[in-house]
Formats: sequence, C-alpha cells, structure tokens
Amino acid sequence: MSALDYNNIPSHIAIIMDGNGRWAKEQGKDRLFGHASGVEAVRDTLKTAKEFGVKFLTLYAFSTENWSRPQKEIDGLMNLLIDAITSELDSLDNNGVRLMTIGDINGLPENCKHSIEKAIEKTKNNTGITLVLAINYSARIEIARAFHFILLNKKNISTAQITPELIANYLYTNAIPDPELLIRTSGENRVSNFMLWQIAYTEFHFTNIYWPEFRREHLLAAIIDYQKRERRFGKTSEQIV
Ligand code: IPE
Ligand code: IPE
Ligand code: MG
Repeated sequence: MSALDYNNIPSHIAIIMDGNGRWAKEQGKDRLFGHASGVEAVRDTLKTAKEFGVKFLTLYAFSTENWSRPQKEIDGLMNLLIDAITSELDSLDNNGVRLMTIGDINGLPENCKHSIEKAIEKTKNNTGITLVLAINYSARIEIARAFHFILLNKKNISTAQITPELIANYLYTNAIPDPELLIRTSGENRVSNFMLWQIAYTEFHFTNIYWPEFRREHLLAAIIDYQKRERRFGKTSEQIV
C-alpha cells in the first residue's frame, strides 16, 4: 500500500459494474448467479471506499437500456435489489452510509421502489459515505429531464440564462460533486449512457476483472492509477504545481 497517497483520495468514485453474466457463464452458471455474486463485490467496495475516506460512491446498477434484457433476468435483478437493500439496511445505517439514487425510481416495480424509499429515509442523516445507486438510469434522459424541469419552473427564461451551472442544478446529481474517477470492470471500454454530463473531466480506469471478482485490491489499484494522472483541466503541464 506504500504507493497510495492518502492525501489524494478521490471524493467521488463512480463504477460501471460490468461482467456479471460473463463471469457466471465461465463457471457454467446462470446469469443471475453472477448478479447475486456481485453483491459481495458491492459490500467490499463500499467498505473499502469508506475506510479510505471516499465521500460518494456511485454504482451503475440498472440502465434504462437494461429493460431490453430477458424478462426473467429483469425480474431476478429487481428481486436481488430488494433482497440486498432489505438485508443490508441495518448494516448500512450502522456504518454511517447514506443511500441515494439517480434515475427514475418511479419506473420500478412498486415493491422495489418501496424498499429503496424506505432505505433512503432511514439513512438520510448519515454522514460517513453516500452510496449513490444508479437505477433505471440514462444520462441522456437525465439531461432531457433537466430541460423539462427548467422550462416548467422558469416559463420566461432567456437563452442567456441557460448556463452549464443551471443545467447541472436540474440533474439528479445536483447535490453531488462530479466524480474524479470512473471505473469500468470486465474489459469493456465504453460509457454506456452513464453520467455523460458529470464525467466531463473525470479520469477513467478500465480493468478486465469481472465485477463479481472486484475487491479491495482492485479499488486501491484504481485509486493508485488515478493518482498517477496529471489533471490539467485545459492548462499546460507547467501551469500545474
Ligand atoms: C452488469 O453485468 C450488471 C448489469 C448490467 C445489470 P452484465 O449483466 O452486463 O454482465 P455481462 O456484461 O453480460 O457479462
Ligand atoms: C452498463 O452495462 C449498465 C450497468 C452496469 C448497469 P451493460 O452491460 O448494460 O452495458 P453494454 O450494453 O454492454 O454497453
Ligand atoms: Mg454487461
């Protein structure tokens, strides 16, 4: 762990948890076994992130495009979400985890929505780490939705008033800083409609590890990789101290 700089831990890490299905297939198991096994990776990653002082951990759990999967897999994922949130709720709460979501939870099955709302309510005053679950999430819909709300709330808005800051205020993430680090597992090097607005200056870390196998050492390796980057934000290297 000597390579880790404790003074340069990203405050927000976002993860595209990918590879559950391929991991399960390689063991001759059902895709749902892969999703269920991914819960342990979530537990370990959340624990490690909190231990190292990460303030926001955003996990991409279900995209709007994932509704195109076989119904059996969708049902399994929704049930897994309910089971995981219900069984982990006390532990999350006792460990100072605040749960939030981004995405349209109104579009989820009623029992799923209910367990999420209950967990959000119970953990709302916790300050240890914020776990942001992206569920029924699409970045393009998030941006379109921001414009819908801007027009509804500000009927006579002028074009000059439409600024990046205003748009950001109407995104699901209005109270969350942009992620400094985005991790995607399973060897896929794409963004898949995730946080398109928020990742304007995010550092990307791609790993071949399948999500169910992702553990503490992989998160720390991603943070160490991040710490090697020079974040220039458009400036020259010489301007950065
Ligand atoms: C990620 O694993 C979980 C979700 C998208 C819900 P996948 O289910 O996409 O696994 P692969 O990509 O098929 O291996
Ligand atoms: C992205 O993974 C969505 C989640 C991790 C929830 P997918 O497996 O759905 O992405 P694509 O379809 O391979 O791009
Ligand atoms: Mg996938």
